[in-house]
Amino acid sequence: MAVQISPSILAADFARLADEAAAVPNADWLHVDVMDYHFVPNLTLGLPVVESLRKATDKPLDCHLMIAEPDRWAPQYAEAGAGSVTIHAEAARAPVRTLREIRALGARAGLALNPATAVEPFEDLLGEVDMLLLMTVEPGFGGQKFLDVVLPKVRRARELVDRHGGRVWLQVDGGVTGETIERCAEAGADVFVAGSAVFGASDPMAAVDTLRAAAERAGS
Ligand code: DX5
Ligand code: ZN
Repeated sequence: MAVQISPSILAADFARLADEAAAVPNADWLHVDVMDYHFVPNLTLGLPVVESLRKATDKPLDCHLMIAEPDRWAPQYAEAGAGSVTIHAEAARAPVRTLREIRALGARAGLALNPATAVEPFEDLLGEVDMLLLMTVEPGFGGQKFLDVVLPKVRRARELVDRHGGRVWLQVDGGVTGETIERCAEAGADVFVAGSAVFGASDPMAAVDTLRAAAERAGS
């Protein structure tokens, strides 16, 4: 299980996104939080910014859509060149169709679950997804406290994924720091989103290395 680190630009300087992307050359992905004031009580950015960012960095974009109509918009993020597009189970009306569209457009398809959403009902959908995102805070804002209550679900998700061949990546997002990342890795997560812990650090590149080392230690 290879550890991957996906720094969230939600904690970066939005006026200098290209520079911020260049500050984490050792990251595996750039996590892009799309919020629409409807699915979550916050607003961030949309397609035009993703299209510009795509040209401004070689880093693959990991687009996390916290929006009310993912079925309508998700394919366009794949068309815009996102390497991965994640939709929320709570918002999608036709998740199978939308996940298939994302894949057909050449991106990895992700399915995200809020802290209170159980993973078991989605077992039959595992063949349709490349990544499960388990939120470890309520979505909407960076800098929140990690919710330990989600860890048993991470363990159960790891068991489900392994039972189905272990191909699906297991991402955690929210409150991931040098301290909490160990618990996530130990529970079975392998892709780690971190906003404040990377872009809030004085040396974002060193922060990525530190997070990766902690996750590798705990997950092995
Ligand atoms: C929250 C977003 C996260 C956020 C994480 O809704 O989905 O990606 O940027 O920020 P931190 O790492 O600061 O909790
Ligand atoms: Zn996110």
